[in-house]
Amino acid sequence: MSLPQPGIFAEGSNTHVLLEYRVKDGVSDTQLRTAVSAAVAALATGDSNKYNVVWGFAAACWARLSGAVPLGLKAFTPVGKAPNIAPATQRDILLWLHGTDAGHNFDGAQLAHRFLSEVAVVELDKTGFLYHDARDLTGFIDGTENPEADERRQVALIPEGQVGAGGSFMLTQQWVHKLRDFGALNQTEQENVIGRTKPDSVELSGERMPNNSHVSRSDVKINGVGQKLYRRSVPYGGVVESGLYFLSFSAEISRYDAILASMFGMTEDGIHDRLTDFSTPVTGSYWFSPSLLELSEIGKD
Ligand code: HEM
Repeated sequence: MSLPQPGIFAEGSNTHVLLEYRVKDGVSDTQLRTAVSAAVAALATGDSNKYNVVWGFAAACWARLSGAVPLGLKAFTPVGKAPNIAPATQRDILLWLHGTDAGHNFDGAQLAHRFLSEVAVVELDKTGFLYHDARDLTGFIDGTENPEADERRQVALIPEGQVGAGGSFMLTQQWVHKLRDFGALNQTEQENVIGRTKPDSVELSGERMPNNSHVSRSDVKINGVGQKLYRRSVPYGGVVESGLYFLSFSAEISRYDAILASMFGMTEDGIHDRLTDFSTPVTGSYWFSPSLLELSEIGKD
């Protein structure tokens, strides 16, 4: 069985570092493999008990690091129509460090950066935190509908027998919240935007559930099959800017396309997710998060 990166499923972290790198022009495949494998090894053998590590690579970057590109892996492209658009900023390397000690995360990020900065520049550098009882900064519990226990692996991991088995397709998007606008809504209206109750995350039922709520637009079925994700999003920011670093794992990249089309008004009904009126994505990348074995084989012939 192909073992996934354990950081994908490690829950309970209250502090996060999120780094997105773009590979510099002129870097050779050999230089890239050397730097990435050194950074991967440094985090794996260093203080690995002090933080959880998850690596992700863009399609183009993974093709340079390994011959085995999973079916469907592609660059993220924009979704939606003005003014509700999910932009594409596809970067090459993603590093997510998380745990219970921000100091350890910082040390790990510095360690990896020493190697990665030889071949790539940082284009996103965010720290994130646990907000109360796993709430998004809008005040709603995020992750209620997530799979639990063994189901997490079924939802998140590419199955055995396929290229990339034990790995996962990731979507990341930095969303910037309009907290003042959202806060100006009364609680009932806020619940209508999300599709769940605010204090205890109970799904609105029947007539009460608007067809443009976030739950209505993200609970997508294709031929009766739920397009399930394992979401690990991270709140970030301060008083000037704050939002959600949406971070998710899936066994199939097509699930993201289907959900985003539904959220951004690109399905037949043309309805957009009302949440996109109160929060705006400013980045978007697809990633492949390889199995432990594939990760350890980077740079080996
Ligand atoms: C600002 C951005 C976002 C916020 C604040 C947010 C927040 C939430 C909240 C509060 C829930 C309900 C509780 C739960 O089941 O977790 C939820 C559900 C969900 N969200 Fe998001 N979300 C955001 C973006 C996204 C994006 C970009 C996607 C997918 C591409 C997504 C996919 C889902 C899915 C699949 C569910 C579960 C729906 C169900 O089956 O009930 N969300 N989200």
